[in-house]
Amino acid sequence: MIYPDKNVIVSEVEHLVEKYGFGRENLLPILQEVQRKFGFISDFAMQEIAHRLDIHPVEVYGVVTFYSFLSTEPKGKYVIRLCKTISCDIAGKDAIARTLERELGLKFGETSADRKFSLEFCHCIGMCDQGPAMLINDQVFTKLTPSKVIEIIENIK
Ligand code: FES
Repeated sequence: MIYPDKNVIVSEVEHLVEKYGFGRENLLPILQEVQRKFGFISDFAMQEIAHRLDIHPVEVYGVVTFYSFLSTEPKGKYVIRLCKTISCDIAGKDAIARTLERELGLKFGETSADRKFSLEFCHCIGMCDQGPAMLINDQVFTKLTPSKVIEIIENIK
């Protein structure tokens, strides 16, 4: 996890605004890149983006807090998102959730002290016929069982 100083954020935002352009329609791709690079979008980064795009910081904050894949807080190296939508729920999401909590020693919504893991629920990820499903960063895992989850977590620990 990178904890950027303000100069690094200023030059990164400047670079991204040059890359995407000044229009407010470029807000989301700029935010996605900041999220990818730093692991979260700090208050300062939101203010800097707002300043560069000439929009109100509240608008930037509204977008960051609307999308679950954007975050105002530092996340773990591995962000685990378990689908909580109905098909996965019926397919056994609760048992998977309990297994994840036990294996990671975390509750949903928490990040481990060493910033290795964040555990979250998410909405449907389009794998409804193969639930329960989860994402670890950008990788999709389907047809989960408690033993499969234990194996997946062991492999990345
Ligand atoms: S309901 Fe879980 S992936 Fe669609």
